[in-house]
Amino acid sequence: MPGESIQAYDLPSRVASYDADMDLMHPNRRKMAEMIENVLTVSGRPPRLAIDIGTGTGFLVDRLLLAFPDLSIIAIDGAEQMVDLARTRLGPLARRVDFRVGDFRDLKTLCANDGSADAVVSAYALHHLSSGEKLQVLRIAHGLLKPGGWFLNGDLTLAEDDELEAVTQHLRVRGIIQRADGRDPRFTDESATRQFLDDLERNEHDQPVRPAEDLRILEKAGFSHVTTFWRETRESVFGGRR
Ligand SMILES: C[S@@+](CC[C@H](N)C(=O)[O-])C[C@H]1O[C@@H](n2cnc3c(N)ncnc32)[C@H](O)[C@@H]1O
Repeated sequence: MPGESIQAYDLPSRVASYDADMDLMHPNRRKMAEMIENVLTVSGRPPRLAIDIGTGTGFLVDRLLLAFPDLSIIAIDGAEQMVDLARTRLGPLARRVDFRVGDFRDLKTLCANDGSADAVVSAYALHHLSSGEKLQVLRIAHGLLKPGGWFLNGDLTLAEDDELEAVTQHLRVRGIIQRADGRDPRFTDESATRQFLDDLERNEHDQPVRPAEDLRILEKAGFSHVTTFWRETRESVFGGRR
């Protein structure tokens, strides 16, 4: 249940170790934020209003605010403590952020009184939703965008089939163990790492889908020019234009 996934993120210990864990488990986090920034940079006038769905500790918001000096961001997350951490990370930049704490499945209500956005972005958040919930959120995101505005999502996907998924999971575990380099007791060997990841995904109710399914959902939500801008095993940046 996504409601429970919000609670899982509210655990103080989880929040405190969040950034370090992201670096260990998602080595492409920077690359993905850079790709989102680059697509917005080359797509016309610099964005002035963006909406970030599932802001967490504000990693993507930080990058976009630094890249686009006239940008304001509506940052949505269900976990108050994540938002507190984002405020801390952003410091003075937080003045350009309108934080909204709430369930992003309720995007329509959360953004009811806002003007149209130049971009809607998200990172590592929408895979918490079922395909049906994701479609509903993306339909609303489409309606919140100006014509020509991008929805850009850096998120986790499954591989194209079960065999590829098994290979991808081995690559994932191997990468984490290599980056941990014996310094993290959770990631000393393959079986401990696998156990940790399985528990984490169960706790956070992850429901990634295959890449083609994510693109299909975007098209169904009304987006055009739907594409994948970048991908490496489980992580990709994809989106579409209103
Ligand atoms: C894996 S984190 C990603 C955070 C951030 N975008 C990043 O790249 O570091 C997912 C975030 O989505 C939030 N979240 C998950 N399900 C949610 C929901 N239904 N409504 C609002 N926030 C939700 C969690 O609180 C968490 O902060």
